[in-house]
Amino acid sequence: MAAGLRFDGRVVLVTGAGGGLGRAYALAFAERGASVVVNDLGGDFKGYGKSSSAADKVVNEIRAKGGKAVPNYDSVEDGEKLVKSALEAFGRIDIVINNAGILRDRSFVRISDEDWDIIHRIHLRGSFLVTRAAWNHMKNQKFGRIIMTSSAAGIYGNFGQANYSAAKLGLLGLSNTIAIEGRKYNIHCNTIAPTAGSRLTQTVMPQDLIDAFKPEYVAPLVLWLCHESCMENGSLFEVGAGWIGKLRWERSLGAIVRGKDQPMTPEAVRDKWEKVCDFDNASKPRSIQESISVLNDALSQIESQGSISMNSTSSGSVASSSVNTTNIVGRQLTTKVYTYTHLEPILYALGVGMSTKDPDHLKFLFEGSEEFCCLPTFGVIPAQTSMFDGIPSLPGLNIDLAKMLHGEQYLELYKPLPTSGQLTSVSTIADILDKGSGAVLLIDVNTYCGNDLVCYNQFSLFFVGAGGFGGKRTSEKAKVTVNPPKRPPDAILSDVTTADQAALYRLSGDWNPLHVDPSFAALGGFQKPILHGLCTFGFAARNVLKQFANNDVTRFKAIKVRFAKPVIPGQTLQTEMWKEGDRIHFQTKVKETGDIAIAGGYVDITSAIDKPFDREPLKTAGLQSDLVFEEIGRRVKEIGNELVKKVNAIFQWDITKDGKTAMQWTIDLKNGSGAVYQGPAKSSADTTFTLSDQDFMDVVQQKTNPQKAFFSGKLKVKGNIMLSQKLETILKDYAKL
Ligand code: NAI
Repeated sequence: MAAGLRFDGRVVLVTGAGGGLGRAYALAFAERGASVVVNDLGGDFKGYGKSSSAADKVVNEIRAKGGKAVPNYDSVEDGEKLVKSALEAFGRIDIVINNAGILRDRSFVRISDEDWDIIHRIHLRGSFLVTRAAWNHMKNQKFGRIIMTSSAAGIYGNFGQANYSAAKLGLLGLSNTIAIEGRKYNIHCNTIAPTAGSRLTQTVMPQDLIDAFKPEYVAPLVLWLCHESCMENGSLFEVGAGWIGKLRWERSLGAIVRGKDQPMTPEAVRDKWEKVCDFDNASKPRSIQESISVLNDALSQIESQGSISMNSTSSGSVASSSVNTTNIVGRQLTTKVYTYTHLEPILYALGVGMSTKDPDHLKFLFEGSEEFCCLPTFGVIPAQTSMFDGIPSLPGLNIDLAKMLHGEQYLELYKPLPTSGQLTSVSTIADILDKGSGAVLLIDVNTYCGNDLVCYNQFSLFFVGAGGFGGKRTSEKAKVTVNPPKRPPDAILSDVTTADQAALYRLSGDWNPLHVDPSFAALGGFQKPILHGLCTFGFAARNVLKQFANNDVTRFKAIKVRFAKPVIPGQTLQTEMWKEGDRIHFQTKVKETGDIAIAGGYVDITSAIDKPFDREPLKTAGLQSDLVFEEIGRRVKEIGNELVKKVNAIFQWDITKDGKTAMQWTIDLKNGSGAVYQGPAKSSADTTFTLSDQDFMDVVQQKTNPQKAFFSGKLKVKGNIMLSQKLETILKDYAKL
């Protein structure tokens, strides 16, 4: 008994199994434990006559070897009866091998109606009827494997076999579709085009080839395709002599042969004929969707003809590379119209962390606000939707969207973005760079409102594994990042992102599952879904806008960033900013890790203001307690008024590390609507606490209580000790930190 791939418990129906290939399949399945229905009408190779002896002989062979088999003598045109035999004898049907066949070879004009019809009835209709009879059984048991038998005569054509060729390729079409329909029920269907010595080939093959091309050299492929562990589906194989090859469709890049608003002419087809038929850099479409997408692209390319391109990208740069980048550079990808109402800018503002808690933010969050406006960085949203279509079909480049990293982003605004309306974005490949380990595509997107250019984006996309094509490494078209000055930042603003930040941000149109689906993120090597780079970008930009332009969107000119490290939703973003004239340099750090998430960033602003900073720049002592004070600061911003009424006191904290004061913080719940800031109390503190960073965290996390810390000498209190009880209510809120 053969080991390895087994079919115990499986019931296999092989049509035309009385000889040739069918017999070899039936014997092989039975040898590996399957129960086999050996079907054969028993006529001659032209389909005349019938006899039970062919099927009986093979059944006897199987039984003699200890296998399980029953005969069936019906024609495949009685498909139901064949399946009934399987159900009656073995109670189920798992695998159908549509193999029965005859020949009625004639040169084309000599094919009679009968010769045409019978070939179609036996090969194509017979396979349909048998398969249909088995389908619901397979569907209900959520398992089925089906083989269709095609022929090289169908794939390539063969003199004298027009009827047969047509039916045989018809089987491939049938297989392609039932593979799609069966997929969700674990019903797989594949097609083979075998070559084997049999009575069908006896008339055309010399005897030595008949002997050499044994049916036993085809059967193992059929068995593998029908095994439960084989996931192949909807494929076509040529097989014979111990060799197996898989076939697929190849399609030339083709050519657009009409212009916008112009008639399409046969002369234009003739003139582009070479390009239409040129298989260089051909694509291999695998689905009807892939097939149709090129038509959509063509339509958009035609429609966008004649639109203005701000950057002179379309002239194309000639790179000395083995991939012909001239085909790529300057190529327009798609033109996309983005239609939106006030909802989209509001959703975007929420996605980049704006909140009604901050009165400054209302004009970005409430359409009824007199100053209602769009955040400038919303300009990336209409642009990104236009850009991704079309990228996968770049000729000659090994582009895999799953391996795409968003490297850098530049956005320039020419006028404030409308809060609703229609924006049309036109994407062009500005350049392609070879970075060895990958290729960088620079994509320019011009976004128009009517005829007005409102913004320009440059996306810099890195495709891992697509490099090494011999292209240039840099481009004069690339907008470049700039390192910040070597001095402490002029301002730092922090934002705690929420655990759902990415889930919220993606609703603005970046649906990549990497940002929400843990298993997808794991495939990319991330422990958790990561925040969109453009989300962090939005956080940073709005901080700069607030700090240096009073949230005045008309003063925002441009922004450039490089995405250096991922951010996990829930982490704290710390935007460090330096003012150099009208250019605000910035970088965004992940506070918890110190990693720089956005590097080399800058925002250009019209008449940037030297805003008196909300507070002193943070010193970076690397204390855990900093986080807690920042959080308390945010809370005080929200409910400061209430707390001032309740507490009416100023608390100073001296946080020590290694016995020395490492940081001072003041929580002022006496003046105005309260404040939290670094440093000693500006007016005198009512109570001053001194304790180490670690002890502070232990108290906050309720690992120890303040009384215990006080009596053990870990916490020192100066001033009004009774007031500290009021403070405890605030600290308790942070026990979860
Ligand atoms: P074969 O003639 O040895 O086997 C075909 C079997 O089908 C015969 O036993 C025949 O009695 C049976 N059959 C015919 N009409 C039937 C019907 N109405 N109902 C039930 N059984 C019926 O030929 P071979 O070479 O084994 O062919 C098997 C399949 O492979 C056929 O579909 C054929 O077209 C296909 N094929 C074979 C090639 C080869 O090189 N042998 C080349 C390409 C395709």
